Amino acid sequence: MGNVLVQYYSQTGRTAEMAELVAKGAASVPGIEVRLRTIEESTIDDLFWCDGLALGAPTHLGSIPWRVKQWWDEATDDAWMQIDGKFGCAFSSAGGLGGGPEIACLGLLTMLMNYGLLVFGITDYVAPLRTLHYGAALPGRPKTQAEKDICERLGRRLAEWVSFYVDGVEQYHPRHATYPRRG
Ligand SMILES: Cc1cc2nc3c(=O)[nH]c(=O)nc-3n(C[C@H](O)[C@H](O)[C@H](O)COP(=O)(O)O)c2cc1C
Repeated sequence: MGNVLVQYYSQTGRTAEMAELVAKGAASVPGIEVRLRTIEESTIDDLFWCDGLALGAPTHLGSIPWRVKQWWDEATDDAWMQIDGKFGCAFSSAGGLGGGPEIACLGLLTMLMNYGLLVFGITDYVAPLRTLHYGAALPGRPKTQAEKDICERLGRRLAEWVSFYVDGVEQYHPRHATYPRRG
């Protein structure tokens, strides 16, 4: 049974709303257990526990908030060289389109790569003109159905990778689960 951790920081609640939808998407894959944790309440044990991690934060000055960086900086002693090969993805809420949430996602993914996680983007368009190539990057909170779908798709895809590669469930490879016509 694969485990997915959704770890996030949120100052005014928007990234928290995204995190709940990411967790909901992950939980939609049967057999996946999900933990939803703020950066303040999560521990190193959560990292060891999970097979896949969705890391979220608001965009701050075109980058990641210092609290998130601090948590991961201080995790180094315990987690370094201990969590390689887990799956990782990112999500971020920004003040507006063009405010840099994709850059913040890349910052989050860069940290995860430094810990040896296997990070991914998603090619799907959940609606016309709405995709998540670098993770879920939104202006503000998830309001429209397409914005909610972006968050859920991220969590579901993370859980699909975990289900296929960790639990060995062939049918949850995204090629079968999300693109059934492509065989
Ligand atoms: C210190 C600080 C820096 C920010 N920098 C940016 C920024 O570079 N680009 C942007 O679009 N929004 C920026 N914002 C706005 C937040 O990204 C935005 O309000 C976000 O939705 C907040 O998410 P949260 O509710 O999860 O904290 C900044 C906010 C703060 C407090």
